[in-house]
Amino acid sequence: MVSDTIQFILNNKIIKIKNPNPNKTILNYIRNNLKMMGTKEGCAEGGCGACTIVLGELNKNKIVYKAINACISFLPILNGKQLILVEDLNNGNKLHPVQEAMIKYHGSQCGFCTPGFTMSLFSMHKNNRSINNEVVDEALSGNLCRCTGYRPIIDAAKSLNNKNDQDQFKQKQNKTIKLLKRIKSIDIEINNSGKKFFAPKTITNLKKILNKYPDAKILSGGTDLSLEVTKFRKEIKTIISLNSVEKLNFIKKNKNLLEIGATTSLLEFQNFIKNYFLDFHDILKRYGSLQIRNVGTIAGNIATASPIGDTLPLLLTLDAKIVVQGKNQKKIFSLSEFFISYRKTKLKKGEFIYSIKIPINKDNIFKAYKISKRFDDDISSVCGSFSFLIKKNKITKAAIAYGGMSAIPKRASAIEKKLVNSEFTENSFSNAVDLINKDFSPLDDMRASSEYRLAVAKNLLLKAFYEIKNKQTIRIN
Ligand SMILES: Cc1cc2nc3c(=O)[nH]c(=O)nc-3n(C[C@H](O)[C@H](O)[C@H](O)COP(=O)(O)OP(=O)(O)OC[C@H]3O[C@@H](n4cnc5c(N)ncnc54)[C@H](O)[C@@H]3O)c2cc1C
Ligand code: FES
Ligand code: FES
Repeated sequence: MVSDTIQFILNNKIIKIKNPNPNKTILNYIRNNLKMMGTKEGCAEGGCGACTIVLGELNKNKIVYKAINACISFLPILNGKQLILVEDLNNGNKLHPVQEAMIKYHGSQCGFCTPGFTMSLFSMHKNNRSINNEVVDEALSGNLCRCTGYRPIIDAAKSLNNKNDQDQFKQKQNKTIKLLKRIKSIDIEINNSGKKFFAPKTITNLKKILNKYPDAKILSGGTDLSLEVTKFRKEIKTIISLNSVEKLNFIKKNKNLLEIGATTSLLEFQNFIKNYFLDFHDILKRYGSLQIRNVGTIAGNIATASPIGDTLPLLLTLDAKIVVQGKNQKKIFSLSEFFISYRKTKLKKGEFIYSIKIPINKDNIFKAYKISKRFDDDISSVCGSFSFLIKKNKITKAAIAYGGMSAIPKRASAIEKKLVNSEFTENSFSNAVDLINKDFSPLDDMRASSEYRLAVAKNLLLKAFYEIKNKQTIRIN
């Protein structure tokens, strides 16, 4: 079945929009069509959290609440979901516990950021009973406040620890689940004055649509693609969303291999990878914000081939393979051959990334570090990733890769060559790091100078050495 009408739930009612403009953001719809002005626009690029809304999604008969940035989300992605706005939190005259907490702890001054913070706190409260510093830091990682100062807001967040979540959303949960089930499973095909949006449910239909529209833009989390519209003021004529294709949302594991489906969110992956590669998890904790990781994907990160894509150096050192669904069959690339040049990959028109395969070798020692000006929601100046096999104090394998050092994330082949078959000693590493100038000639830009990047890249490798040698990891939290 195909429909040209998106359906979602707002205030316990199903809202239907026939052929919505696929380039319109949810923020634009909320403010200009619904005339609900609580949700604010600050940056229009996912960086300030003023536009935070919460989506309720059905997962195994339960509703999962996700905070997202409405300013960089296209309207059709609401299909099949519950939209919760800051105006929906009070229950008649009674404020929601998160609103009460913000008032009690003086979490607002000018108020511009307050609806966004309140929505982030709302999703934190709905998803967590026990609220500790880590939960609060993650929940607020995508919200900026220029005047209150964060302490009162953090106090408000912490006061929600163990607080009962018997609110109107809980009371009406069964009704909401019924409504979500009613609207969930239809392929969407929108045509709005020539602007098209497709959200097929199966890979077969996805392939057919891609065949017909090879120039279409593929949409995953939209945390990169949407900026073409919101920042660069372009129009995207045809969008094909992968998000309804259930078969692309998976994580498989066996003894030697992990396989991550293309639409797995960065947050799901972050929680999963903790048990395999702790440093990968720690880098993901600092990837954008919770709002970004709730929707963004690794496949999207790979497809952008961005020189500062944070997962890319890590995947390079882990020898990840990219499974691409071609027109007829699947193809497998190693990540190091997948990037051609600045923001160019081997993906051809009509193809898409199906999954990412990450080998596991329990003897591998893996380290990764992100250097940026802020802890959360900031782009790397340099990201370094290191993977070693060491036998009887001899380095038998060295995989070293950096982001932020060249037009594409790249392995440091001269350093690797120098280290392999060397003793695992300070001397070997001190000698090898100087080859960084052979492997990379980074650019100066507003984030960091070339000289700084080279110095940091060397020091990160030495840091990895000392941490491995001393069996000690210095974590910044
Ligand atoms: C506020 C903010 C903070 C950010 N912080 C970081 C950060 O800390 N580190 C970092 O690395 N990046 C960061 N980014 C960049 C962005 O989040 C990443 O590039 C993200 O991984 C893109 O994934 P997505 O699923 O949102 O992709 P989308 O935006 O949906 O797509 C990005 C591109 O990839 C293509 N694409 C997507 N999925 C596929 C697929 N399966 N097959 C083929 N092509 C595909 C799309 O057509 C598009 O060209 C940030 C972005 C924002 C807005
Ligand atoms: S307006 Fe700043 S994140 Fe959306
Ligand atoms: S209260 Fe003014 S920006 Fe936060």
